[in-house]
Amino acid sequence: MSERRSIPERLGHDFLRALYHMINTVRMYQDNNQLVQTSVSSFQNILNELTIGGDISLLLYRSRFHLGGEKLPYRRDAAFIVYNMAEFFSKRGIGSVNFLGSSRNVLPEDIITFLRLLNDAIRHDKPLDWLEQKLKEHDVSWLQLSPQRDEDIEVGENPDDERYEQARKKYFAAIEAVREVANKVNQGMVGIRKSRRVAQNLVDMIQEDSTLMIGLTTLKDYDNYLYAHSVNVALLAACLGRHIELSDIALEHLVICGLFHDLGKVDVPKEVLLKHGTLTDEEWDLLKAHPVIGVRKILMLNATPSLRSRIILGPFEHHLNLDMTGYPRTLFIGHLSLIGKILHITDVYEAMTAETVYRPKSYTPDHALRQMWAEAGKSFDAILLKRFIHMMGIYPIGSVVELSDGSIGLVMDYPNEDERSLPLVLRLVNDGKGNWRRGEMIYLADQIIKEGSSRLTIVRGIPPAKLHINPAEFFLHIK
Ligand SMILES: [Fe+2]
Ligand SMILES: [Fe+2]
Repeated sequence: MSERRSIPERLGHDFLRALYHMINTVRMYQDNNQLVQTSVSSFQNILNELTIGGDISLLLYRSRFHLGGEKLPYRRDAAFIVYNMAEFFSKRGIGSVNFLGSSRNVLPEDIITFLRLLNDAIRHDKPLDWLEQKLKEHDVSWLQLSPQRDEDIEVGENPDDERYEQARKKYFAAIEAVREVANKVNQGMVGIRKSRRVAQNLVDMIQEDSTLMIGLTTLKDYDNYLYAHSVNVALLAACLGRHIELSDIALEHLVICGLFHDLGKVDVPKEVLLKHGTLTDEEWDLLKAHPVIGVRKILMLNATPSLRSRIILGPFEHHLNLDMTGYPRTLFIGHLSLIGKILHITDVYEAMTAETVYRPKSYTPDHALRQMWAEAGKSFDAILLKRFIHMMGIYPIGSVVELSDGSIGLVMDYPNEDERSLPLVLRLVNDGKGNWRRGEMIYLADQIIKEGSSRLTIVRGIPPAKLHINPAEFFLHIK
């Protein structure tokens, strides 16, 4: 292969996208269809640019594409195309496609012939053998195919596995940190060095992939619900903080506030915390004391006065509404701090969407957001709540939804900043025994619609527990 300049990142992803679109349009339409013509010509334009220096190879290695020997970097907005194309290649046993310099002069109809063979190959026993045979018969000599290497066939070797494993570990480390502080806080001074480290780790992970972390908050750990709730509130708060561009240090404080916001509950009797049904007035008073008790606990932590002063207000305010109703009743402050406002939003959202042993009926995430929006300006700061909804999407990341074709999907991401109603959805497939597994990835904002059929949309949200789905498992690729 000849010496070449490095391929701009954008061009690499555009190439994969063009290939994806072309394969799909050809599958659905006749050769003379306008969409087919356009998709082929935009593919050719990019191919011509790529082959200026000679051949260019597109290689699939461990679920990632390499173009011209360079690995295409992970990009959120391209993730679904990478995922689908990797599947497409794997199912046909293709490890790489080498586009030769001669592909610059190839006619659109020759490309379409190749694509039809490529699509048809799946119907044959040994797709790649069949394909190579057919390419010979049709004199296709402007590209070469190579088989997938054995070690690439195991899907378990996903390079992202490490990332998911780290996220899972850090999530549970955060639960442990909260548990430890809660257990020790009544026995005297407790250090919070570990909690700070946990908080820094969570902030780092959010900076890297906030979508994954939002997906993780769907993990509602029954046994450790109180701690899991605190970690989820911390994560959601920090994601919102990042969305409104707070500094790293502010995010770290926000996470610590989230982790400790319910620390005061250690002094509330278990019977009250876990009570089914309505509380008596007396029990309510006990529960309503937890923000104030929490502040007292935080004052007992072994932290610098400056850190303590930054992490007291949020936990104190987290049950206060924007109009200062709620609890604890106070005359000391006239309005909520930014941290207080953020915690209030994320605490209510988390609690509404959590299904717990003592509160078996939860809201679907979209329903929770609608309910909360009705309280904008009264309970919640309207601007912040709007940003929160914008961040989460109409059907929040982690929602289990019914699609318009009757199938079930999981909202994975809103890859485009400006498109918050048409998410990237992972179709979930039931094996007939009640188990769900990963299906195809569909980007609702970027569908190729077949003639006579209509655009796939979301019909409604479904409580995940109803179908025994644990969304976090799909975000972490455990399933
Ligand atoms: Fe609380
Ligand atoms: Fe809470």
